[in-house]
Amino acid sequence: MKILLTGGAGYIGSHTAVELASAGYEVVIADNFSNSSPVVIDRLETITGKRFPLYEINVADKAALEKVFEENKIDAVIHFAGFKSVGESVKVPLSYYRNNIDTTLSLMEVMDKFGCKNLIFSSSATVYGKRASLPYREDMETGPCTNPYGWTKLFIEQIITDHAKADPDFSAVLLRYFNPVGAHESGLIGEDPKDIPNNLVPYIARVAVGTLPYLSVFGNDYPTKDGTGIRDYIHVTDLAKGHTAAVNFAKNHKGTEIINLGTGNGTSVLEMVKAYSAASGKDIPYKIAPRREGDIAECYADATKAMELLGWKTDLSVDDMCRDSWNWQSKNPNGYK
Ligand code: UD1
Repeated sequence: MKILLTGGAGYIGSHTAVELASAGYEVVIADNFSNSSPVVIDRLETITGKRFPLYEINVADKAALEKVFEENKIDAVIHFAGFKSVGESVKVPLSYYRNNIDTTLSLMEVMDKFGCKNLIFSSSATVYGKRASLPYREDMETGPCTNPYGWTKLFIEQIITDHAKADPDFSAVLLRYFNPVGAHESGLIGEDPKDIPNNLVPYIARVAVGTLPYLSVFGNDYPTKDGTGIRDYIHVTDLAKGHTAAVNFAKNHKGTEIINLGTGNGTSVLEMVKAYSAASGKDIPYKIAPRREGDIAECYADATKAMELLGWKTDLSVDDMCRDSWNWQSKNPNGYK
């Protein structure tokens, strides 16, 4: 089976390419490297022994995308391509709506033209907005989202759901990721934010490696065990395996399924700092700062549906995430540059 990965050179896409290849799937990558590096394709070859066919295209460009489908019999698509910075989406919302929604519409129109009926979409736990009860379950209400990035994920979920309703042969799996962190155990691929990181673990990694002086802990007055925010961090390798399980599932399924990919466990900011410091052997200086606008106190998944439908659960711990993040960060202090 041949799987097209839009955004396949990105952080989650590249790790998924490795897991799909090791499960025996053929991988084709479409990426315009707008937020990733061509070096990833070489690194993937080192890890898997395979040179994945690469199309350097914008997925919104239908003519370019049609060529991919003409030259390959694509059985399923995993749609990772999209802008993903929360802060940036607040500053340039039109660009987020245009890019994320356009790429999805073009992709689905081309899939329709070529009779490709399996789509797996990178969604996010951000679509839950601020819910009163925990853990987050797939049948809970969604929104309102706190930023345009989150809205693009929710709107795309709706677009895909409507399409799958109209085409009874269509199979869609909407994967709601919790907080992906860590890196492949080889240290050859990992997360490489282009500017100063916004997310916790990449920021801690830069403090540990010495390129940033200290971490600002955004609030220590939340109603949590130590006052800092709690999230469900998931190792990117576990997350990637969740995609392989979703591909296995989608091929024998019709309609839309929404599935959380998380561990079901919450970790606080201070617990993460401690775990990262132990894994790296480095001091992680931090200062308590005001809460970040739009943040919630606590967020973690109910991961039972993924187990029931996909037969998938996470294996790796927070210590594994910190070890592998540090392995990647210390071997690649400037990312792919
Ligand atoms: C964020 C996004 C979410 C997106 C996800 C992608 C926001 C509000 N949410 O989730 O929409 O899907 O990234 O990975 O941006 N923290 C610090 N100091 C820092 C950075 C973070 O204390 O320098 C804290 C935060 O307050 C939070 C926790 O660390 O409690 C995790 O933050 P982060 O890694 O940014 O993830 P989310 O906010 O959960």
